[in-house]
Amino acid sequence: MATLAPGTSASPLPEGAPVLGDAEFGRVARIMQDDARIHLTEVKKTLVHSRLSRRLRLHGLASFKAYLDLVESNTEERRQMVTALTTNHTHFFREDHHFDHLREHLLPRLKSDPNRSPVRIWSSACSSGEEVYTIAMCLLGDDRSKAQWMNGRDVKLLATDLSEPVVNATREALYAESTVAPVPAAYRDLWMRREEGGYRMVEAARALVTARVLNLFHEWPMRMRYDAIFCRNVMIYFDDTAKAELEAKLVNMLKPEGFLYIGHSERLIGPAAEKMVSCGNTIYRLADGR
Ligand SMILES: C[S@@+](CC[C@H](N)C(=O)[O-])C[C@H]1O[C@@H](n2cnc3c(N)ncnc32)[C@H](O)[C@@H]1O
Repeated sequence: MATLAPGTSASPLPEGAPVLGDAEFGRVARIMQDDARIHLTEVKKTLVHSRLSRRLRLHGLASFKAYLDLVESNTEERRQMVTALTTNHTHFFREDHHFDHLREHLLPRLKSDPNRSPVRIWSSACSSGEEVYTIAMCLLGDDRSKAQWMNGRDVKLLATDLSEPVVNATREALYAESTVAPVPAAYRDLWMRREEGGYRMVEAARALVTARVLNLFHEWPMRMRYDAIFCRNVMIYFDDTAKAELEAKLVNMLKPEGFLYIGHSERLIGPAAEKMVSCGNTIYRLADGR
């Protein structure tokens, strides 16, 4: 007889498959909250079961209790568990009105800066890099001559994420053909090169990007302020206290008039909301006199 995955009536488990009981789910949820501020609710039980079952198999463990005992005594497995439970869905030109705004409002400002100040943009939950390379392509332009404004300029894009595998993928910058489909042909032809396995971002785009592992709730080593920060589709995983804390820190990392782009179902709360002016759907500008 098949047993049912906890929290679902639709996913029968093979006979003898480990069951994720409430106590073990509670232990997982506490670790996710403590380590990543990710707020796991009961509706995620099936997902947790499926993703952690792979870790149990890898370690030859027969129960979630044994696995949680391992996690609680082994820092590396704890990190692996947190990584396994992150959701890394992303794509090129996701929520493309943000990139229209970047091209129409931020880019002209950067190009016309008489002081030629350093340009800094941060993709703060970058996943596998599609977001940061979309930003890179928008800065480089859809015609080689449009990239000339960068000559002699200090332009750097920071891409960070909690999950090491996706940060490595950002560094690799190799994307399957299906992944590249949303990229307009003019950008793709200029800034991506066909290779076995898909398309790789060309050196001119890769050289702009520094990819690092960074937990948004750990100390941030960056000293520079940012012209724009993308923090999209990650705050949905946090509770309101964590969101307010993070947003306040993000606002403090912006240059005057800097832009903050957040995900379509996210909103600004707490002190950050008072310092930012809305300038489009999920787009905010740091108000004068923060
Ligand atoms: C759904 S993806 C969003 C990717 C991209 N920003 C986008 O909108 O397409 C969310 C990312 O947030 C990362 N993440 C989750 N919690 C995090 C934390 N506490 N610190 C840093 N990154 C985190 C995950 O690893 C995942 O790659």
